[in-house]
Amino acid sequence: MSRTVFLNGDYLPEEDAKVSIFDRGFLMADGVYEVTSVLDGKLLEFDGHVKRLERSLGELDMGKPKDFDNLLEIHRELVSRNNVDQGGVYLQVTRGVADRDFVFPKDAEPTLTLFTQSRPLLDTPASQTGIKVVFSDDIRWGRRDIKTVQLLYPSMCKMMAKAAGADDVWLVEEGLITEGSSNNAYIVKDNQIITRDLSNDILHGITRASVLIYAREAQMEVVERAFSPAEAQAADEAFITSASTFVLPVVSIDGAQIGEGTPGPVSRRLREIYIDESRKRAI
Ligand code: PDD
Repeated sequence: MSRTVFLNGDYLPEEDAKVSIFDRGFLMADGVYEVTSVLDGKLLEFDGHVKRLERSLGELDMGKPKDFDNLLEIHRELVSRNNVDQGGVYLQVTRGVADRDFVFPKDAEPTLTLFTQSRPLLDTPASQTGIKVVFSDDIRWGRRDIKTVQLLYPSMCKMMAKAAGADDVWLVEEGLITEGSSNNAYIVKDNQIITRDLSNDILHGITRASVLIYAREAQMEVVERAFSPAEAQAADEAFITSASTFVLPVVSIDGAQIGEGTPGPVSRRLREIYIDESRKRAI
């Protein structure tokens, strides 16, 4: 059965949702997005995702879509119509439809699309075994704090990882790890949780913000600073965070086994805490 999706004010069967070939999202990747996870049919971290969306739109001087104030209702309606118990809601705003020109159009109406994806989030094989990452140069543009739909390089990174027998890439710039191709990166050394500090060099992960709060509440020591590939390979533990993976242990970094090669205690505990706490706050 086909999904119900949302396009510019209408709930439609997915095969009937059509966007113009002149949409700037299609022509120029002139758009931003958010992914909000669904657990027990409820939304995780909804407010954080909408706040970041608002910021991304502002940074790109892009108008808010007409339905901006109804986003909670639209998310809930799609989750309900598509019977999503576990999975996510993908939301995208583009600058809209205009004849092709580099200059931003003055009067384009932003295009708003949302759809759901059902998939297991909790006891996934990767959460049991941990994942392997390899290094690649971070050649993305310099405004990674804006969640744009320019995802060609991250897609290429996933393919590079696959070709190397790994699951993902950790990106390296000027001798330091920035983040994963679609997640934030962490190491644990002598019980310190280390993750890169916020700047335009990385996406300000919504999961990252909550995980750091929960870790500090649990009396774990958190240090926000950049770390090098060599430091990562010598870490006691490593993990990634994102809306779609929560806290996911990393057991191998560019060929170096991390710890015992199985998910370590800090990563496992943080995953549990994150799932418990965000479930409690789900709406
Ligand atoms: N990716 N860094 C990058 C480059 C990302 O693309 C993401 C999210 C994150 C983590 O952000 P958050 O915790 O807010 O999900 C960090 C999403 C899940 C995606 O592209 O599917």
